Amino acid sequence: MSEPVQTPQTFTPRIFSGIQPSGGLTLGNYLGALKRFVEKQDEGIETIYCLVDMHAITVWQSPADLRRQTREGAAAFIAAGIDPKRSILFNQSQVSAHAELGWIFNCVARMGWMGRMTQWKDKAGKNSENASLGLFAYPALMAADILAYKATHVPVGEDQKQHLELTRDIAAKFNNDYGVNFFPITEPVIEGAATRVMSLRDGSKKMSKSDPSDQSRINLTDDADAIAAKIRKAKTDPEPLPDTLDGLKDRPEARNLVNIYAALAGLTPAAVVAEHAGAQFGTFKPRLAELAVSVLSPITTEMNRLMADPAEIDRILGEGSARAEAIARPILDEVYDIVGMVRSRQV
Ligand code: TYM
Repeated sequence: MSEPVQTPQTFTPRIFSGIQPSGGLTLGNYLGALKRFVEKQDEGIETIYCLVDMHAITVWQSPADLRRQTREGAAAFIAAGIDPKRSILFNQSQVSAHAELGWIFNCVARMGWMGRMTQWKDKAGKNSENASLGLFAYPALMAADILAYKATHVPVGEDQKQHLELTRDIAAKFNNDYGVNFFPITEPVIEGAATRVMSLRDGSKKMSKSDPSDQSRINLTDDADAIAAKIRKAKTDPEPLPDTLDGLKDRPEARNLVNIYAALAGLTPAAVVAEHAGAQFGTFKPRLAELAVSVLSPITTEMNRLMADPAEIDRILGEGSARAEAIARPILDEVYDIVGMVRSRQV
């Protein structure tokens, strides 16, 4: 496939990212995504953040849980520092442009591309005959989330990299097939000390809301005692902390705790090992627990306060959806024109 000629300056910088309301949020979501979304809000670029409820139902969600998790996710964004006036904060299903553009992209993306997605292979596993069609098509909807706004930059954790490469392929194929320079070739923004926070029980596995063991993760709803207990019990090794990062090369669990500390403190991992060189985990873990509680407790408290008024959360999501729709609809109209759909309905 030949790359279309791209003149990046023709696209206004715009940030989009999303989180699935498919369970409680974890420290991985916070450090890999939310915390960085908040930083982006201050960089003078338009920021659009979405609770992707349509992605969530690619695996079964009970309606009551989905509603609660969507509101809880919105509360987490706001509690973490997203200002719904400065950023657009909304839930995906209230802006139908996502589903509409998703369909167009289902017709651009190739079966082979989707079949190579590692997340599809992991989630569908051996039982792919029984997985939903939505789970297979999911990355095309994700491309639509981003490109419905012509977003140029997408902050995410490391696990979303392959989906963003697919988004670039879809944009390039659309531009190429229709002979236009319409969609930007979006840049993934994967940066910081915690782009891949690992399980507290197994340093080779990602920290995930779907891990059956609650001990493997810190949830944004955990109280101070639970956070401290999980860090105390986190798997480590008997060696003390080295004085350089090289000394953590084959110690994934130790490296993970150092990364978490660094991301929470706003330091580099190298600075953390320099500061704690020689410390045993018996000493380092309580320090990490104290730091984690000091960062996360105010967020949890604010989430709980916001969750006491779900009507206000719904109002914020409604307002954000209207602002999102105002950007996406004219872009989608242009897409329909490019594709050759007759648009004659009077509005
Ligand atoms: P989701 O809901 O699984 O995760 C949301 C964000 O959190 C990041 N993340 C992590 N970062 C570091 N360490 C971890 N252990 C960890 N776990 C999760 C994810 O990388 C992500 O940035 N497909 C997406 C949602 C999505 C989306 C989009 C994202 C749908 N449309 C458009 C960006 C743009 C997902 O399932 O993320």
